[in-house]
Amino acid sequence: MILLLLFLICPHLVLSLNQEGLYLQHVKLGLDDPDGFLSNWNDRDDSPCNWTGISCDSLTHSVNSVDLSNANLAGPFPIYVCYLHNLSYLSFNNNSINGTLPLEISKCGNLETLILAQNFIVGSLPGSLPEIPSLRFVDLLGNNFSGDIPVSFGGFRQLEVLSIVGNLLSGNIPSFLGNISSLKQLNLSYNPFLPSPVPPELGNLTNLEIMWLTGCNLVGKIPDSLSKLKNLVDFDLALNSLEGPIPEWITGFSSIVQIELYNNSLTGGIPVGMSKLTRLRNFDVSMNQLEGPIPEELCSLPLGSLNLYENQFQGALPASIALSPNLFELRLFNNRLNGTLPSELGKNSPLVWFDVSDNQFSGDIPEGLCENAVLEVVLLLNNMLKGAIPEGLGNCESLTRIRMRDNRLSGPVPEGLWSLPYLSLLDLMGNNLTGGIAKNVSSASELSGLLISRNRFTGSIPEELGQLDSLVEFSGSDNLLTGSLPGTLVNLAQLGRLDLHNNKLSGELPQGIQSWKKLNELNLASNELSGEIPAELGSLPVLNYLDLSGNYFSGKVPLELQNLKLNKFNLSNNHLSGDLPPLYAKENYKDSFLGNPRLCGDIIGLCPSREKAKSKGSMWLFRSIFILAGLVFFLGVVWFYWKYRSYKKVKKGSEKSKWILTSFYKLGFSEYEILDCLDEDNVIGSGASGKVYKAVLSNGEAVAVKKLWGVSKKVDLNGGDAPDDGFDAEVETLGKIRHKNIVRLWCSCATRDCKLLVYEYMPNGSLGDLLHSTKGGLLDWPMRYKIAIDAGEGLSYLHHDCVPSIVHRDVKSNNILLDEEYGARVADFGVAKVIEGFGKGQKSMSVIAGSCGYIAPEYAYTLRVNEKSDIYSFGVVLLELVTGRLPIDPEFGEKDLVKWVCTTIDQKGLDQVIDSNLDSCFKEEISRVLNIGLLCTSDLPINRPSMRRVVQMLQEFSVEHKAKTVKKEGKLSPYYYDDSTDQVSTV
Ligand SMILES: *[C@@H]1O[C@H](CO)[C@@H](O)[C@H](O)[C@H]1NC(C)=O
Ligand SMILES: *[C@@H]1O[C@H](CO)[C@@H](O)[C@H](O)[C@H]1NC(C)=O
Repeated sequence: MILLLLFLICPHLVLSLNQEGLYLQHVKLGLDDPDGFLSNWNDRDDSPCNWTGISCDSLTHSVNSVDLSNANLAGPFPIYVCYLHNLSYLSFNNNSINGTLPLEISKCGNLETLILAQNFIVGSLPGSLPEIPSLRFVDLLGNNFSGDIPVSFGGFRQLEVLSIVGNLLSGNIPSFLGNISSLKQLNLSYNPFLPSPVPPELGNLTNLEIMWLTGCNLVGKIPDSLSKLKNLVDFDLALNSLEGPIPEWITGFSSIVQIELYNNSLTGGIPVGMSKLTRLRNFDVSMNQLEGPIPEELCSLPLGSLNLYENQFQGALPASIALSPNLFELRLFNNRLNGTLPSELGKNSPLVWFDVSDNQFSGDIPEGLCENAVLEVVLLLNNMLKGAIPEGLGNCESLTRIRMRDNRLSGPVPEGLWSLPYLSLLDLMGNNLTGGIAKNVSSASELSGLLISRNRFTGSIPEELGQLDSLVEFSGSDNLLTGSLPGTLVNLAQLGRLDLHNNKLSGELPQGIQSWKKLNELNLASNELSGEIPAELGSLPVLNYLDLSGNYFSGKVPLELQNLKLNKFNLSNNHLSGDLPPLYAKENYKDSFLGNPRLCGDIIGLCPSREKAKSKGSMWLFRSIFILAGLVFFLGVVWFYWKYRSYKKVKKGSEKSKWILTSFYKLGFSEYEILDCLDEDNVIGSGASGKVYKAVLSNGEAVAVKKLWGVSKKVDLNGGDAPDDGFDAEVETLGKIRHKNIVRLWCSCATRDCKLLVYEYMPNGSLGDLLHSTKGGLLDWPMRYKIAIDAGEGLSYLHHDCVPSIVHRDVKSNNILLDEEYGARVADFGVAKVIEGFGKGQKSMSVIAGSCGYIAPEYAYTLRVNEKSDIYSFGVVLLELVTGRLPIDPEFGEKDLVKWVCTTIDQKGLDQVIDSNLDSCFKEEISRVLNIGLLCTSDLPINRPSMRRVVQMLQEFSVEHKAKTVKKEGKLSPYYYDDSTDQVSTV
């Protein structure tokens, strides 16, 4: 019958092809095969046994295996494969199979292996699967299966491997899985299960070798019944909320190779008896609340990787750790460890990552850390290490990051350390190092950060430094550097920060500094520099921190400096003379020019001899006095009126309120002036956290004032006497942040029941408003692309360069603001957290976790936000830039923008998602940004790149992913190693 049907459908089929071949032709017909993977499935052959992906039994010539992995096939699951009666192996690993998995899959009656990993299958798991009696291996990783695990799954008869990692399963991990006694691997990681304990019944799986339940929302203690799992090789319960101690019975797991319990809430110490685990290679209990010593018996094992960071471990690092011939990773940062580092460390081991930052280690840095020439990262920040930096590190070409900040290191730096070819960061700040910067530094071609402040470096800055094309930051303040700034420094096109204050540099500023297009901060204070301040400084587009104080600069203050938008501006204590540029001839800039006796401006006290010098007679003097007196009187009246109004205004708000102003910048306005502008007429926006007003101040400047919600409510709830819960501290952190892509917080004002945040005003409003209004077409692709990079850099700064790192928590296009030139700045970062603590009375979801359409899927089950949630939201913004669509749109139906983009690309192609306003000549670039957006919005947080990486990708476009395969990015194995921890945790 089926044969007849096929014959009717495909009349060109030649009847010589056997029946199994005909079934497979039907499979081929149902699949979209853009790469021609199935092109040799020729219907003129007698049998399909020679076709790509097909294998037959050598005796019966019947098909027993269909392996179509990595074939870029799309379409619904081709149920016709299940007509192949002898089929025992079926794999569609890493394709684009969509739709649901039909119940008829059970017709594949002889199947032993079923691999459908990394596809787009939706719907519930087919409850009929256990009806296949011989099924041993089921891998459904990386699909979109949802709902509960069917009860029938307790009835698998021979199943050895069950992997449903990275789907959308809800409900909880059911106890009936404990009935599958043949099971060797139970891999259910990264599903949005409800919070629930590990079912004790899983202890009945006594054949289990791998238990991989990372990110399953597990709570409670690790049940003692698991002690029966004597065959475990890999025990992985990381990223859950488990409590209680690490059970002592794990020391009975005599086959165990890997134990992963990081990121839980475990307490107590590492159990006694670890020496019994002779096969253990990887042990990771980081990010818990563990304490006590690091046991000698643990370190005596031939471990490959030992991660204990972010706990409260105490005491010394046992020297035996240095004897392991396998050790490649040792991360102990953020504990309370002390004593010396084992001197043999690295000599016997292929050490790659070494991080002991934020402890109290003393003594010398081990000499042989890089003896095996594979060391990439050395992080020793914040310890008490002394002595010289070992010579051996100077020959260690594999190094990419060196951070030794804030120790007691002394002596000269090994010459080779300056010139390591792959080094991107050399941070030696806060030691007692001596000697000079070596000329060979020009060979460190990857160097982006050279941080050597607060040492005793001498000599001049070598000209060769100007060859470091990637250099973003050069901080060498508080040293004894001499000589002049080499002219080659102006070649550093990427330079964002040049801080050499407090040295003995002399000579003039180099010619050609207008090429510092990315320079944000220039601090050359307290040196012996001389000559004129070059007018070109005024043309630096993003300079906002300029400190040249305490030098011998002479001549006039160039008019061009008026073009700068500075939040730090200090030219005091120089030999400047002449008139001040009009913009700066104001009282509130006074401190910027102090100690320049020959400098003149109309600032009271700055130029005392001016009137005398210019006076041309008594008539003039009389007139001046008259005008002055009139002015004083007028000012008096204004002052009186203004005080009275402010008084009334404040009184209106709250009888007892007193305003407390916390300011982070030199301000040209007062809190009362701002209060006067908080009229409904001036509202420019309103969000989850508060209302935003535009306030135009008397000096003509505009600021944006955010009045936070939900304050009086808290006062009510707590009887009016609640202590200030960290608002000020938090705001202070935010106020200190200075980055060209982050909106500046000028100040905050607070009373007990009202809080205001005063920001710089961004004239072009928010990206969201512009993009989704009728003016959306104004933003052409180059502008959008630049906005993406700007905003990405801002976020990357918050994540990677702030200590502690700051999670934005509400990344969205409405929080990306645009300045005059449509440069983008991130706004409102961390404010959600401030408010969360501040208005505890009201728990609004939108305040805590971001905005609709931008919320990462894992939030639904972890209720925790971290950097990865920001990255998801940023991905949504990228998709908005590419599509011009809103994150949520009635037209999408149930879907959000992310899902809409994925399905539309699949069904209709790329062109259907790209904003039609965009010029098609940019299509290549647009589709790359789209792919980065999709990568950022991966369902699994571990698949999302770090913000630093995102910025890199946006800038380089070095990564080519096909939109369709983006979902399949990332390493999904129980042995996955997440390298972002070094960046996020100990930047
Ligand atoms: C498969 O191909 C080989 C040569 O490539 C040929 O000898 C053999 O007959 C073919 N088998 C079938 C069943 O078509
Ligand atoms: C599945 O993929 C095929 C081929 O790309 C497409 O034509 C079809 O519409 C998709 N079906 C669903 C339900 O997404």
